[in-house]
Amino acid sequence: MRKDRTVYLKDYRPTDFIIETVDLAFELGETLTTVASEIRMKRRPGAGADAPLELVGDGLQLAGLALDGRPLLPERYECTSDHLKILDLPAEDEFTLTIRTHINPTANTQLLGLYRTNGIYSTQCEAEGFRRITYFYDRPDVLAVYSVTIIADKARNPLLLSNGNLVEERDLGDGRHMAKWDDPFRKPSYLFALVAGDLAMIEDHFTTMSGRDVTLRIYVEHGKAGRAGYAMDSLKRSMKWDEERFGREYDLDIFMIVAVSDFNMGAMENKGLNIFNDRLILADPETATDDDYARIEAVVAHEYFHNWTGNRITCRDWFQLSLKEGLTVFREHEFSADQRSRPVVRVDEVKFLRAHQFPEDGGPLAHPVRPTQYLEIDNFYTTTVYEKGSEVSRMIATVLGEEGFRKGLDLFFERHDGGAVTIEDYLTCFEDATGRDLSHFSLWYHQAGTPLIAASSAYDEASGRLSLTLSQTTPPTPGERVKKPLHIPLRVGLISPNGDDMEPSSSSGGERTGDVLHLTDTEQTFVFEGIGAAPAISLNRDFSAPVRVRFDQSRENRLRIAGAESDLVARWDTINALALEVLSRATAAIQAGDPVDTDSELSDILIATAEDERLEPAFRALALTLPSELDIGREIASDVDPEAIHLARNAVFSAIASSGRATFQRLVESLREDGPFSPDADSAGRRALRNAALAYLTVADQSPKAADDAYRSATNMTDMIAALRILAHQFPDSTEAVEALSNFRKRFDGEPLVLDKWFTVQATIPGAKTLDRVAELMGDPGFDEGNPNRVRALVGAFATGNPTGFNRPDGAGFRFFANFILATDPRNATLTARMMTAMRSFEALEPGRRKLARAEIERIAEHEDLSRNLRDIVDRMLKS
Ligand code: TRP
Ligand code: ZN
Repeated sequence: MRKDRTVYLKDYRPTDFIIETVDLAFELGETLTTVASEIRMKRRPGAGADAPLELVGDGLQLAGLALDGRPLLPERYECTSDHLKILDLPAEDEFTLTIRTHINPTANTQLLGLYRTNGIYSTQCEAEGFRRITYFYDRPDVLAVYSVTIIADKARNPLLLSNGNLVEERDLGDGRHMAKWDDPFRKPSYLFALVAGDLAMIEDHFTTMSGRDVTLRIYVEHGKAGRAGYAMDSLKRSMKWDEERFGREYDLDIFMIVAVSDFNMGAMENKGLNIFNDRLILADPETATDDDYARIEAVVAHEYFHNWTGNRITCRDWFQLSLKEGLTVFREHEFSADQRSRPVVRVDEVKFLRAHQFPEDGGPLAHPVRPTQYLEIDNFYTTTVYEKGSEVSRMIATVLGEEGFRKGLDLFFERHDGGAVTIEDYLTCFEDATGRDLSHFSLWYHQAGTPLIAASSAYDEASGRLSLTLSQTTPPTPGERVKKPLHIPLRVGLISPNGDDMEPSSSSGGERTGDVLHLTDTEQTFVFEGIGAAPAISLNRDFSAPVRVRFDQSRENRLRIAGAESDLVARWDTINALALEVLSRATAAIQAGDPVDTDSELSDILIATAEDERLEPAFRALALTLPSELDIGREIASDVDPEAIHLARNAVFSAIASSGRATFQRLVESLREDGPFSPDADSAGRRALRNAALAYLTVADQSPKAADDAYRSATNMTDMIAALRILAHQFPDSTEAVEALSNFRKRFDGEPLVLDKWFTVQATIPGAKTLDRVAELMGDPGFDEGNPNRVRALVGAFATGNPTGFNRPDGAGFRFFANFILATDPRNATLTARMMTAMRSFEALEPGRRKLARAEIERIAEHEDLSRNLRDIVDRMLKS
């Protein structure tokens, strides 16, 4: 029997002891590092006078234990690799506990705790990595002031970094040196960080709103300093924006970012010392795409924003994870919207939510934004906690208005600075600041599943009255069959026959604030008076709520929205929905052996939108981009046949390509790059439109020529990879594709982040043959199975981005993937568990593939010695 280690929210209770200060001393050795932790603590008033001190570890080796400087006798404590229990501690007095542990950073392939790769020591402590360094109260509600002394070989590790301010640096005369860092801010252990090694650095400065000078440093591998400039620029813009938008000022005298190449996730907000996956720092025009630039800007901002939302105010326990992550994603989204084009940024968010969060919320791994139990917290760093959590904060802002939201957030910072708090505490601040009752609204945090809104309308011309009936249902999710109605703030636009917004003279049937309808019941009819002509109704403008909408409005009305809606998010959404309908119908036709209706009305809209110079190029590019095969599969939702989808999409794509050929050629020619590269959003938008047009042009001509020309003449990575993708995906066997791929491989030899793009382009070539290519690429000298970026770029991209290849009808794709997961799980459990979620929607496949997929997941589950992370995921996937 496996021990049930499920953690429950209801079991929360504070620790018996309070930690005041922690003084850590690291003697860094590649295979043997000694950690001395001196903890000043005392019994919590009210805790039992004889309660033992119970600390956690993970794979630790104890090398010494002392109480107030005297070694502890063995009968005073119990110790295993993951537990340290000390008895007979003072009832009232403060005491100092000294714990020495031995760890091996080189053997640490999990990349959690202290690890050494590529000659760099670095740490990842969130969520439960600190316990792999020393025994501790490794939980977010234990806040302490830390000092950190690092001793290491000076030649190999000229750089010794930790949180806070450098207070001492000394040569030890024996080839080693030491550095001591003090962090004056109380923090939980998950925000601890240490970096040592030899790195290049760029430095800049920021003057805060109160006039303090902050030193900014970004550390990267030698030779890469020239690629850190955009991250630095993003950091300065983030600091300024957080002051202006939310009144948040940075608090230490130095802010450091270190980019490392082996990192499980995107980045980590350690106090004063953010550690990043290098793909989210390094960029120059020759090696990074516009999407890379946008991600770097967003993630640098995200981690910086955590300094207030996460660090100064942290979570009481990990069930509250969305308190910091959802809110910080929301702040990041708002930052991106202010730096770039707001509607374009919003459309990208909607696409991401639908592609990742909706399937999670509708599948076996569904959970509320604030879960009530977990087996492995690592598996709860999900798009539900992050992105849906962000949407919930956005809805609070919609309900309260921007000013009310700001007031509530100001109160949150004032009331809870220095605290470890709950989502209830967060909500209470908005209630107290505005007087609005959010008790019904708060259900968004507790109920899983994506609500479906069904709408119908009736318009009476004689009275000028429009009634709009909205009903909501949320499908059942694991462990939660019955759902309650939510408070859904829905932005609505009424669009007149000539495309203008119409204002009702009055309305009834439910609360309305401006253009926001507050749907709170299972069904409500909103009645609008004073509507002079039959309106087209645009629902969920700006994607004001993370819901699905079903509204059978006339095609004429939908075309009105697609052509004239002033809210560009809703306009894109309608164009996208029309395309999805055409593509789903075409798929059904392929399956039935009927001719495909490629729908000339759809091509007309896409082409007209692409040509419309009143619209910004980035938006036109979005409109022109057909839903992906994955998008279509999600729309069809059951008995999905990836092969039929592929053929249907190609047919529709070709039809649009032929009918718009002249437009596409004109766009490709007129949007040619001139002048030096700039990563700004406008320039990126022009490149996006040009490359979208290029894909159509190439298909219209049934020749790789245009893409080949574009590849050869590309002056930046955005254009280069776009051309390479078209060549490889549309004409995989052409000499042009083969030569471009080989040219790219040679040209970027020794550039792992660029070769990741090369791996991904090939892993996502549609068709059954790609599996062999992926297997072969795993033998490429540029591939490294120990590096999460390489693994995700090749194996991850194949599983998540190649519906026809991965879902081969013979199951070979699943088998390959399962073998990879089983082989990699012992090395890096965080990575394999996350990758495994690629198969979470297997129940949506047609019966043949579904059965084969299930068999492979079951084969994984049969292994006795899976990591807890992977065990948790596969068991939940099979349970539903
Ligand atoms: N807190 C990080 C963020 O900014 C997420 C993160 C980074 C993380 N590394 C991790 C979470 C390792 C779990 C495990 O979103
Ligand atoms: Zn975060």
